[in-house]
Amino acid sequence: MNKLELVKGFLHGGDYNPDQWLKRPDILEQDYQLMDQSEINTVTVGVFAWGRLEPEEGIYDFAWLDNVFDKMNRRNGHVILATPSGGRPRWMSQKYPEVNRVDSEGHRHTHGFRHNHCYSSPIYREKVHEINTRLAERYGDNPALVLWHVSNEYSGECYCPLCQIKWREWVQHKYKTLDALNDAWCLSVWSGLYSDWAELLPPSLLGDSKVHGMDLDWHRFVSDMTIDFYQHEVQPLKKLTPNIPVTTNFMAESLKEGRYTPLTGLDYGKFSKSLDIISWDSYPSWHNRYETTAETAMKTAYIHDQFWSLKQRPFLIMESTPSCVNWGQYNKAKQPGMHRLSSFQQIAHGSDSTLYFQIRQAQGNSEKYHGAVIGHDGSSNSRVFKDVQQYGRELKKISEIKGAIKHVKVAIIFDWDSNWALNRGGGFGRPTRLGIQMLQKHYANFWRKDIECDVITSNMEFSQYDLLIAPMLYLIRQDTMEKIKKFVKNGGTLVSSYFSGLVDSNDRVNLGGWPKTLQDIFGIELKELDTLLPGEHYHVSFNQKQYETTDYDQIMRANNALVLGHYTDNFYGETPAITRNQYGKGTAYYVGARLSLKFIEDFYDDIIQKLGLGNSFVKSSNPVVSVQTRYNGDYVYHFVMNFSEKKQMIEFQRPSFDMLTQREVMTSVQIDKYGVMVLKERKNN
Ligand code: GLA
Ligand code: ZN
Repeated sequence: MNKLELVKGFLHGGDYNPDQWLKRPDILEQDYQLMDQSEINTVTVGVFAWGRLEPEEGIYDFAWLDNVFDKMNRRNGHVILATPSGGRPRWMSQKYPEVNRVDSEGHRHTHGFRHNHCYSSPIYREKVHEINTRLAERYGDNPALVLWHVSNEYSGECYCPLCQIKWREWVQHKYKTLDALNDAWCLSVWSGLYSDWAELLPPSLLGDSKVHGMDLDWHRFVSDMTIDFYQHEVQPLKKLTPNIPVTTNFMAESLKEGRYTPLTGLDYGKFSKSLDIISWDSYPSWHNRYETTAETAMKTAYIHDQFWSLKQRPFLIMESTPSCVNWGQYNKAKQPGMHRLSSFQQIAHGSDSTLYFQIRQAQGNSEKYHGAVIGHDGSSNSRVFKDVQQYGRELKKISEIKGAIKHVKVAIIFDWDSNWALNRGGGFGRPTRLGIQMLQKHYANFWRKDIECDVITSNMEFSQYDLLIAPMLYLIRQDTMEKIKKFVKNGGTLVSSYFSGLVDSNDRVNLGGWPKTLQDIFGIELKELDTLLPGEHYHVSFNQKQYETTDYDQIMRANNALVLGHYTDNFYGETPAITRNQYGKGTAYYVGARLSLKFIEDFYDDIIQKLGLGNSFVKSSNPVVSVQTRYNGDYVYHFVMNFSEKKQMIEFQRPSFDMLTQREVMTSVQIDKYGVMVLKERKNN
């Protein structure tokens, strides 16, 4: 067991920046008192502290950090120690300009923003190796150290001459010959053929900006380089502190209204293999005006589940805000009860922590208005502080759940490269691809019915699932096709849709129609994929009901498949829209058109019943009350969460015990606005 696994109970705390307060010993002293009062047991330190740790090249100052470790040890607390590469010191950028990034237009950046180092620079790698080694040597054996937090929110790209060399090497290694490369990227188009490796430059608006295959490989390259840099950072940590696990904090994309999805810039599926535990920074926009609280909760749940699925083991929430963020257009505080509800939701989906950005609010500079446990008033009487305190106390009551796992029978497939390719290709409707939004629509069906759902990549194992959902899986590799085939043959149930299996792994369109393997599995042939204009709708008749189509209608022919639903208008006539095919011992469904959540819900009802996927604890689910379950030893823990502004009713099959109120709970229960229950029962009920 590593150090983190040995910790009893959940981690509660977060980013702590004493390096901003070294001239205020009174404040530093007060921090620890307030942490004790709010049941904070964990601090993440050093995330952007390189300038303090190494104020001049080769001159180190660890005294302030030693003090943090002393303080945390005295209270049996835990330290998550960051490597500081997310924000390098100014002297370094000045003395060694190569550590700074070059943008896609060729501008070399100066110092001035975090997270913007070149991942190829030998000097930056050397400096990182040195500081990481020193941190590992100094704190590796410290009892309080439980986890390495490597860098911070890796992202972005660099186009410097060093990265250009790496790019050329990467492409050359992959394709071996120019001929193979010219074919893979279809470079006969527009006279793009390479005749010398030296001609190869990264895609950019200054040059190649339309070569889809190149763009796809560039995304893969950026992921690989980021992972390579991370592995370089980790090397001294693994060598010197083998029992301290290593993570880096993953992200979600939350700036676009209504679109809350995991970050798509880096292949987290691939990246996750190099992490000991997954962690991510969760900042949903609660109380917005564009969707209901339940919709925000569903999207947040989707991301939690995707990060859970990367390892199918508990993950960490590395950052969340106790109140508001500062980077939105409008930065709303959480309403009373929402902090508790949204934090329990993290635990419900498999997190073993609730950590915040940040513990004490900065006095100045860019994040001074970002929410924090301890505000500018330094008070333990603020609403936010009390929320954190109450949650900290409640978290202690359920500490036996730490480490608990989940048993999931349904999985949705999301592949980073398929998503890159889907969004890149021209044609169809540019604003209406919405791949992840469609996955979330399928996910919503299960979330609303309290059925757990993983979000996996096609590289993961399928066999433990009863139902595999792969809508809009645009790029399907040959090996994925074979895996899918095996899954269905062996008795699995598969659902896919329009926009699946259109291109190969180089983003080249499959010739001769839909791949034969897919035709066999689904028992259909694809004809045209029709793109609809905004506001244009046609209709599908399914189970004697009419449903409206939006954005896309796939026209097809059923060969072996049974037609479950057909179009009723436009030039499609009465051609099939929804089909089912018996293949081997399994079943494959194809949904040809983009349809509403109402359709998706009706469509899955039958499948859920056939496969017995329904929640065995919930008698009648309520779409705005979410139930999520974790398992530990002989016990089962159901988190029941009301994501609505009203009291709600929910019915269970059996009485159970609420760990938060320490009361017996009957089968028919009323749950308050934003209410939470953690219901415990013995396994095998
Ligand atoms: C990110 C960063 C933090 C902080 C927060 C603010 O998650 O990792 O350093 O800037 O955003 O929300
Ligand atoms: Zn570079």
